Parts: sequence; C-alpha cells; structure tokens
Amino acid sequence: MQGPQNPMKAIVVENPGKDYRLVVADIPAPKPKAGEVLIKVSAAGLNHADMTQAEGRYPPPPGAPDTLGMEVSGEIAEVGVGVTQYTPGDKVCALLGGGGYAEYAAASEKCVLPVPKGVSLVDAAALPEVHFTVWTNLMDSARLKPGETVLIHGGTSGIGTAAIQLCTARGHTVFSTAATKDKCAAIENLGGHAINYKEQDFVEAVRKATGDKGVNVILDMVGGDYIQRNMSAAAIWGRIVNIAYIGGMQATVNFAPMLMKRLSLLATTLRARSNDEKGAIRDALLKEVWPLIDAGKIKPIVDSTFPLADAQKAHARMRSSGHIGKLLLTM
Ligand SMILES: NC(=O)c1ccc[n+]([C@@H]2O[C@H](COP(=O)([O-])OP(=O)(O)OC[C@H]3O[C@@H](n4cnc5c(N)ncnc54)[C@H](OP(=O)(O)O)[C@@H]3O)[C@@H](O)[C@H]2O)c1
Repeated sequence: MQGPQNPMKAIVVENPGKDYRLVVADIPAPKPKAGEVLIKVSAAGLNHADMTQAEGRYPPPPGAPDTLGMEVSGEIAEVGVGVTQYTPGDKVCALLGGGGYAEYAAASEKCVLPVPKGVSLVDAAALPEVHFTVWTNLMDSARLKPGETVLIHGGTSGIGTAAIQLCTARGHTVFSTAATKDKCAAIENLGGHAINYKEQDFVEAVRKATGDKGVNVILDMVGGDYIQRNMSAAAIWGRIVNIAYIGGMQATVNFAPMLMKRLSLLATTLRARSNDEKGAIRDALLKEVWPLIDAGKIKPIVDSTFPLADAQKAHARMRSSGHIGKLLLTM
C-alpha cells in the first residue's frame, strides 16, 4: 500500500461554539509515533462527545489531535517503531483520542482490533467506542455476574444497542428504555424488554417484571431525576453506573436506598484513560466480545452513513435523536 497522501482531507470546526460549522479542509496527515499504527480510514463513527467538542465544551485529552473523531475503521497504511501486533494491509477498527474525521488517523496499537468476520469494513467503524464503553462499565465497574438482570437506559443509542446485544448474548434478562414505539420495537428486535419511558414509569415496569426485586445492574446515560429513580429500580446489592448525564448533572437525592439496599453508584469516562488501560479493555473485547460478533450474535447497528463532506448533516441527525444505532462518515 502507498504511503499517505499529504496533505489529507479532514473535517475542521470553522467556528467552535453553539453554531459550529463542520467543513472539509486540507491538513497534514499524521505520522505514526512509536507504538502507533496509521490507518487509511474507510469510515469514522460519530459520538455524542464530538458535538460537545465542536461546541468548544470538551477539549481532546493531552496529546490527541484537536480534529474530531474518536473511532475509525480502515486499512493499516504504516506502522510506527515497536509495533508488533499489526502490519500494513490489515483491516482493522480502532478507538482514538481524536482525529477520526479524516482520510488518515493514527492509533495506539493497544486500541486496535481486527474487523470481525461477516462485518463490512465500513460498518466496523460502529464497533470500537460502544464496545469499549459497554464492556468496561458493565464488567469492570458494575461487575455484572452471570444470571443477573440489567436495565439499560437509552436502548437505541449507539451504546444502548451494543449493551442490549452483549447482555442478551451472555444470557442476561435485559430491560431497556426508549422514547418512541419504533425505538421500543428496535429494542425488542435486539432481545430486550422495551419500556417506553414517555408512557410508562420504568421503576414500576422493572419492579413488576422482576416480582418487586428490582434489577441487579443499571447502565444510565440520563442522570438528573433518573438518579433517584434508578435507586428505586435497583435490587439489593445493585450497581448503577453512569456514562453521561444527558438529563442533568445535578439532582436532589434521598440517599436512604443506598444504605438500605447496599447499592453502588458509579460513573466513568473512557477517553482520558491511558493506552495501557484501554489496551486491557481491548484484550477483554478480543477474548469475550469479538467471538460473539464473529458468530453473528452481536452486530454493528448502523442507522445511516454520510459522506465526509456531510458531517454537519450527520451531526444534525444525531442531535435530533431520531437515529437507532450508530451514525458513520465514509471517506
Ligand atoms: N462515559 C463514557 O466513557 C462514554 C463513552 C461513550 C459514550 N458516552 C455517552 O453515552 C451517551 C450515549 O452515547 P451515544 O453515542 O450512544 O449517543 P446517541 O446514540 O446519540 O444516543 C443518545 C440517547 O439518549 C437518549 N436521550 C436523550 N435525551 C434523553 C432524555 N432526556 N431522557 C432519556 N433519554 C434521552 C436518546 O434516546 P430517546 O430518543 O429514546 O430518548 C438516545 O438514544 C452520550 O451521552 C455519550 O456522551 C459516554
């Protein structure tokens, strides 16, 4: 394979802030540093954090490119000094600190995974961010055990569609919330028990379905008044893990259920973790999740793909919350 074209096309944020504009520009292609691979990008996944970054409210971690994009799929074009796991031509997907909305992106080899069997090179861009996040939050933080019940809020988000599939593939009973009938149908198709949160109180729904025991683990991105309600929906020794607070960072909370039910309230972010920490999650995914994808038991759920030049339209779709699964940009 030829070396990268330099300069390369990438999306830049013309005016960071509420009314940001995403435009295609020529910027220098990255060079892989020691321990990094350079990927010729086929597709880049969109993430909620990309919108926050474009608004100027979420700077990339130190050392990461300041262009948008936290995950890609593509072909290895070059490898940096000391890379042992991949060679040029390998088809891969990768988690990045930034810089994915571009023709080339550099990634630590510790954050790279092969494209699973039966998954197209483009669709593979839908896998890294959701599976790293879901695995580390459900398994490392919430210590999900075989046979336990799970409640997943935002069931048709990129994260939600991955979490429902992982949990059902591993034999868990899954409850999951969404705002519309179509979204609830999508949850049922993935094997979850859907709760339309506009029509039903999710606390009542899970308590009724579990014989008043509640659920063992809750994966939440909503926060706000869900913080108290999650405590009510949790079983004794339940673990509640937040990956975002879309509904509010602040809440007035009665902590009595934490004591009485011996609950754990947890929260984590992925992006700022070291490559070694991410590498440990990557190794767990290779062992536990990639075989389930290879076997067709977990699939990338892609709502729609947009050409790179339409990144602004893709962001508008994400902001509208009309999507089910992941949004991708193709090069
Ligand atoms: N901590 C981490 O390491 C980490 C990593 C990755 C992602 N995240 C976060 O996880 C969240 C999901 O990411 P994503 O990329 O999968 O996002 P996404 O596909 O855009 O989904 C966002 C979801 O939020 C739901 N939602 C929005 N407002 C809501 C409200 N007021 N009440 C209940 N649900 C609401 C929407 O579903 P309805 O239409 O059904 O309401 C939608 O499914 C984002 O906030 C993202 O920043 C965190």
